[in-house]
Amino acid sequence: VSKTLPYYVPSNIDEIRRQFGRSSLDYVRCPVQAGDYTLARLVELVKPLPHWFALDVATGAGHTAILVSNYVNNVLAIDATPEMLDAAIAFAKSNSRSNIQFQQSDAHNLPCFDSTVDLVTCRLAVHHFTDVPRFFSEAYRVLKPGGVLAIIDSHLPHNVSFSEINKIQKVQDSSHVSCLTREKFEAISVSTGFLIDQIEEGSIRLGFRDWITRGRVAEKQRDELRHLMRGCAHPDTAAVLKIENDAQQDFTFSFQRIIMICKKPSAV
Ligand SMILES: C[S@@+](CC[C@H](N)C(=O)[O-])C[C@H]1O[C@@H](n2cnc3c(N)ncnc32)[C@H](O)[C@@H]1O
Repeated sequence: VSKTLPYYVPSNIDEIRRQFGRSSLDYVRCPVQAGDYTLARLVELVKPLPHWFALDVATGAGHTAILVSNYVNNVLAIDATPEMLDAAIAFAKSNSRSNIQFQQSDAHNLPCFDSTVDLVTCRLAVHHFTDVPRFFSEAYRVLKPGGVLAIIDSHLPHNVSFSEINKIQKVQDSSHVSCLTREKFEAISVSTGFLIDQIEEGSIRLGFRDWITRGRVAEKQRDELRHLMRGCAHPDTAAVLKIENDAQQDFTFSFQRIIMICKKPSAV
């Protein structure tokens, strides 16, 4: 039996609900959420089993939960934003899913008993968490021995401070906290007690216009973003973004992706 931690309230929770509450329906249709390579890769790497109970943390419009529900017995999908959950419930219904339960809950206070979950997934959300080690500890607590934690997120490619990338993301979405480096993800996993099974790094391409529309970015911040991204001072930042002109999107750019599969040791 583990000691229950006092309830933790993330300092950005109002910002999260404001940001995602107003754009929940965009996330259902968004090609990044719905179709980037990381979803299919998650299933290939994890190989979920039919008897599993999965917990999808920060489910957004439910893309990861819906995918995983094809392979496992049951999924509990949680998110902090009520409008996102409404969108996810409608999306799951339109996909004829009947083995997903949705619940409003916070990633730092997972709503499951100790050692009851086979798989915890969390895609494109860790960069919003204000206490990432606490989220990892919670995932460790709820997982059964041998259980799997699968993280997909934006990350920073090297062990250097890419403050410009975080600044750009924060202007597009004020609830953004910080992208971590691979090394930081590894350090938090190991210090929590996880065994790192697999790590893959990649990137996706985004259109500037789609990105600012989804983020409901105001005109003034759009100009600031254009300036920050096109004129980014640090050569490392430019090397990550790989900006290319585009008639429809103004420009396209790249963001990094990390997929990390961790296991709770079988004998604990
Ligand atoms: C980009 S969406 C997630 C996309 C989704 N996981 C997928 O695979 O398509 C980010 C989500 O994180 C949620 N979120 C952010 N901070 C959270 C927290 N502390 N607890 C729970 N949900 C959170 C937001 O409400 C939002 O729905």
